[in-house]
Amino acid sequence: MHFLDLNDFDAKTLKGIVDTARRMKQARAGQPKGLHEKDEPLKGKALALIFERPSTRTRVSFEMAMKQLGGEVIVLSAHDMQLGRGETIPDTARVLSRYVDGIMLRASTHNHLTELAQHATVPVINGLTDLSHPCQVMADVLTLEERKGPLARQHVSWVGDGNNVAASWIHAVGVMGGKLTLGCPEPLNPTPEVMAWAKTVGADVSLTASPETAVKDSDCVITDCWVSMHDKDGESRHNLLKPYQVNRSLMSHAKGDAIFMHCLPAHRNEEVTDEVMDGPQSVVFDEAENRLHIQKSILLHCLGGK
Ligand code: CP
Ligand code: NVA
Repeated sequence: MHFLDLNDFDAKTLKGIVDTARRMKQARAGQPKGLHEKDEPLKGKALALIFERPSTRTRVSFEMAMKQLGGEVIVLSAHDMQLGRGETIPDTARVLSRYVDGIMLRASTHNHLTELAQHATVPVINGLTDLSHPCQVMADVLTLEERKGPLARQHVSWVGDGNNVAASWIHAVGVMGGKLTLGCPEPLNPTPEVMAWAKTVGADVSLTASPETAVKDSDCVITDCWVSMHDKDGESRHNLLKPYQVNRSLMSHAKGDAIFMHCLPAHRNEEVTDEVMDGPQSVVFDEAENRLHIQKSILLHCLGGK
């Protein structure tokens, strides 16, 4: 079973994945980080991690997740593969499917992911594309629910670029419920496709150009970098996004006990000030830790346990 985008799933499945991650995290509390799960549910299974773009969290959390579940990983940079010399994605998919039990891809373009999934005979997991980042948002939901309770009762605010992570947040709220307000400069709104999908499923998702309106009465304020890995127009993005910096003044429009999230890496004092990032409302490092716990649950969902 592939894990490509959150809008491929129903609420029961996504909530189940978050619940399993929460239970596995609780069960491991206090154990040494490298220790395997007692019954090694993925023993004998191997996962290939392919990176067409750099990564710290996705790489390390997937690698540790597989190891803790008793499985193996092979980490591949697309530049070092024949893929980088023109071997096709369908052929790469067919070949890797003969060796490993699952493939995680961080793709330079979403088409590579869908092509890989179409031709692989093993599960394919989306480790970020230009259009979405579902594993990240599942970790975000786990983090939010740890602090605030069920997503369906939260007002979540996204401030800044309506990018790949924002798109997966729209999918998450569309499937699992909750209220999402995005404050983006109009040229950087989420794609018309993802907004149309939100409308079709009756999701409580709204757009404003005002960052203050977006965070008003919010339980959780989220932002991301102004220039994503696939973006080229850095200077115009900086100019457009400057008014969307998450600082103390913007946070004061949210609820007093609102939390702050960022998928990281952060560009400190651009999209978020040190004061907010290192302040009492920030849960960014819990969010990074939760990538590990959610990855394990996603792997069990896709590769199955013994
Ligand atoms: N948040 C995230 O995906 O981080 P990496 O780019 O380091 O994997
Ligand atoms: N939006 C960012 C997320 C990085 C994890 C990017 O695509 O570069």
